[in-house]
Amino acid sequence: MRWQCSWIAPIFITAAAALGHAEQRLHKPSPPPGFVTARGTKFELDGKPFAFVGANSYWLPLLTSQSDVEATFKTMKNAGVKVLRTWGFNAINGSELAEALKSDLTYYQVWNSSEWILNEGPQGLKRLDNVIKTAEKYDIKVLLAFTNNWVGYGGMELYINWIAGSGHSHDIFYTDKRIIASYQNYVRAIVDRYKESPAIFAWELMNEARCLGDLPAGPACIAGTELLPKWYREQSDFVRSLDPHHMITTGGEGHFFWKNPVKYWFNGTLVSDYNFNGAAGEDFDRDITFPNIDFGTYHMYPQTWYPELDTPGSNFSVEAWGLDWIDAHIKSANKAGKPLLLEEFGVTGLSNKTTMYTSWVKRALDTKHASPIPLRTFSGIMPWQFGQLGLKESGGNRLIKYADALINGASPNDGFAIFTNQTAVWDIFTNAAKVQNSRSK
Ligand SMILES: *[C@@H]1O[C@H](CO)[C@@H](O)[C@H](O)[C@H]1NC(C)=O
Ligand SMILES: *[C@@H]1O[C@H](CO)[C@@H](O)[C@H](O)[C@H]1NC(C)=O
Ligand SMILES: *[C@@H]1O[C@H](CO)[C@@H](O)[C@H](O)[C@H]1NC(C)=O
Ligand SMILES: *[C@@H]1O[C@H](CO)[C@@H](O)[C@H](O)[C@H]1NC(C)=O
Ligand SMILES: *[C@@H]1O[C@H](CO)[C@@H](O)[C@H](O)[C@H]1NC(C)=O
Ligand SMILES: *[C@@H]1O[C@H](CO)[C@@H](O)[C@H](O)[C@H]1NC(C)=O
Repeated sequence: MRWQCSWIAPIFITAAAALGHAEQRLHKPSPPPGFVTARGTKFELDGKPFAFVGANSYWLPLLTSQSDVEATFKTMKNAGVKVLRTWGFNAINGSELAEALKSDLTYYQVWNSSEWILNEGPQGLKRLDNVIKTAEKYDIKVLLAFTNNWVGYGGMELYINWIAGSGHSHDIFYTDKRIIASYQNYVRAIVDRYKESPAIFAWELMNEARCLGDLPAGPACIAGTELLPKWYREQSDFVRSLDPHHMITTGGEGHFFWKNPVKYWFNGTLVSDYNFNGAAGEDFDRDITFPNIDFGTYHMYPQTWYPELDTPGSNFSVEAWGLDWIDAHIKSANKAGKPLLLEEFGVTGLSNKTTMYTSWVKRALDTKHASPIPLRTFSGIMPWQFGQLGLKESGGNRLIKYADALINGASPNDGFAIFTNQTAVWDIFTNAAKVQNSRSK
C-alpha cells in the first residue's frame, strides 16, 4: 500500500486546471464507506450531506490516561460534535528529550543532531493511535494537521533551525529542498499510518501557514508572493499521491489577496486591512481552487487581531468585522464550488463569547441569508477550543508544556476554552450541532 497510487492524478489535475474550477472533482473515484468527501459546496458522507459542528482539541493526544481521552470523547459526543481537529505533529529537539521522558510528554519526532527519529512508542504515535481509535468508536471524524506555522509543539521553525541552520528567514521552509523532503517524510509516515481509516476527516497541510512566523520574514514574503500558493499546490498533490480518498485542506487562516483590500479608519488614519491585502502570503480565492485542495478553511480572531476595533475613531466593530469575514469566505467558496470550514474562531470574556458567537454562528450556518450574497455553502464550524472538566490524570493537575496545564481537572485554557459549566456559551454550540446534524440526512 505504501507506494501505490490507485488514482491517476495527472488526468484530473489537467482537466481541473484547464477549467480553473472545482466541478471536475466529481470525477474522483468513489470513496470507501464512511469517508467524508466534498461534492460541490457540501461535505458528504455515504451519499448524504454532512453538516457539522466540530471541536478543536490539540491537547487530546497529550493526555497520558486513556480514561481521560474516553471521557473527553463522551462529552464531545453528547454535545453533538462530529469532527475533532487536533495536531498530527509533535516534534522536540534532542536537548528536550530528557525532560520529555521524565514528564511523560507526548512526542512523535525527536531531532538527534543529524536527523528526525520517529517515535512510534507508547509515549509517541501510540497516543495518537489511541485518539484515532477512540474517535472511531464514538463516530467522530478527525482533522489532522501535519505541522505548525508557529513554534508550538515543534512547528516549521524547528525544521528550519535544524536542517538549514540558524539565521534563516521563516519562508525558506517553503523552498528549501531538504526541508520539503523532511516535511514529506513525516507526512508520509502519518498518512500511511491512518489512510485506511474512515475516522480521518481530512489532512491539513499546516496550521496557519504564513510566509512569516516566529522567525522573521524574508524578502520574498510580500503581497502576491508565489511562496505559499505554490507550496499548497505541490504539497496537496503530494498528499493526494499517497492517499486517493481522504480530503485535503490548507489549514490556513483564509487571508485574501484583493486588488482593492478592505480599509478601515483608526485614529484618523485609513488602514489597509492585513487580512485582505495578501501580506501574510495566502490568497484564499486562488488557493481554494487548487485541484487537491478539497475545501477551504479560515480562522477568525478579530478581537486580538484588531485591538483598535471597537475603539473611538474606528469605523468597525469586532462583531461586524467577523460577519463580513464570514460572508467574504462563503462568497469565495461558492464561487470555487467547494465546501468551507470556519476552522477556528474565538473571543475572550464570557459575555463577549455569548454575544459574538450567537451572531457569528447564525451567520456561518445560515444557508438562507439572501442578501447581499446568496449563501449556498453548508459550512462546518469549529470554535477554538473545546474544554473538558473532570480530567483525572495526575490527580487532575499536570504541567504539559509551554503554558499548557491541567488545573483542577480542567483542560488547558488560553482564555478561549469553552467548558460545560459555561451554560450560555455551551448551549450556542450544542444547539447549532442539533441544527447541523438534522441537515445531515
Ligand atoms: C531546543 O530546545 C530548547 C529547549 O526547549 C530550546 O531552548 C532551544 O532553542 C531549542 N533549539 C532549537 C534549535 O530549536
Ligand atoms: C541519529 O540517528 C541515525 C539513525 O538512527 C544514526 O545513524 C545516527 O548516528 C544518529 N546520530 C546521533 C548523533 O545520535
Ligand atoms: C470604514 O471606512 C472605509 C473607508 O471610508 C470604508 O471603505 C469601509 O467600508 C468602512 N467600514 C465600515 C464597516 O463602515
Ligand atoms: C492617535 O493619534 C494621535 C495623534 O497622531 C497620537 O498621539 C496617539 O498616540 C494615537 N493613538 C493611538 C492609540 O495610536
Ligand atoms: C470583551 O471584548 C472587548 C472588545 O474587544 C474587550 O475590550 C474586552 O477586554 C473583552 N473582555 C474580556 C473579559 O476579555
Ligand atoms: C467552569 O470551570 C472552569 C474550569 O474549572 C472554572 O475556571 C470556571 O470558574 C467554572 N465556571 C464558569 C462559570 O466558568
